[in-house]
Amino acid sequence: MTLGTLLKLATAVGAYALIASSLVEAMDKSGHAPGVSKNGSIQVPNVDFRKEWSVLGAWVVNGDDGENAKGIHNVYTQPSTIDAYRKTGKFPDGAVLVKELLTTKTQDMTTGTIGYADKIEGWFVMVKDTKGRFPDNKLWGDGWGWAFFKGGNRAKTTSTDYEADCKGCHIPARKTDWIYTEAYPVLKAK
Ligand code: HEC
Repeated sequence: MTLGTLLKLATAVGAYALIASSLVEAMDKSGHAPGVSKNGSIQVPNVDFRKEWSVLGAWVVNGDDGENAKGIHNVYTQPSTIDAYRKTGKFPDGAVLVKELLTTKTQDMTTGTIGYADKIEGWFVMVKDTKGRFPDNKLWGDGWGWAFFKGGNRAKTTSTDYEADCKGCHIPARKTDWIYTEAYPVLKAK
């Protein structure tokens, strides 16, 4: 084998490895996005999203007494989703949004009365699907897969039908593709 052939081979292997690794990042084994199976069932992605993904934004649920915070919702997505959104103004196919529900503790601290994250209550997951892949699966529609998971069980969704379980409450965000983007400043380039 000549040096030229060897170099060509090495480049081909390198390119293949690059393509393969970007595919692995974008897809799970069989579904089109992390956490999605072939038939469209959804799980909380098996990723350390708190560390590996980007924070899209956070919501504070005010307590009924108007003082102590009752909960925090942290929303995460893949870093590539943010890049794509900044370029196109749209959530790309395969974008996964995970909203983690946390209870809070409130404490008097040197900065004031402060609430901070305590226990996980559950996760809301949305998966962007621009291709209408799962027309017969009730978790999918309006360009997204929709599912809820109670804290402790990342594998089995407790929601069964996005029209009944999710859609009504997301109508105010319809114009921004059903997502409450006003709370996600990271989507705008700085
Ligand atoms: C009671 C109304 C309500 C229901 C029911 C509801 N949502 Fe939401 N959802 C909201 C609101 C309001 C926000 C933003 C503020 C917040 O987190 O409280 C939100 C935020 C989200 C987010 C973060 C991204 C975004 O849109 O800003 C995800 C993901 C999400 N919801 C998924 C779901 C899924 C999946 C279901 C059904 C299983 C569902 N939601 C049902 C009202 C609701």
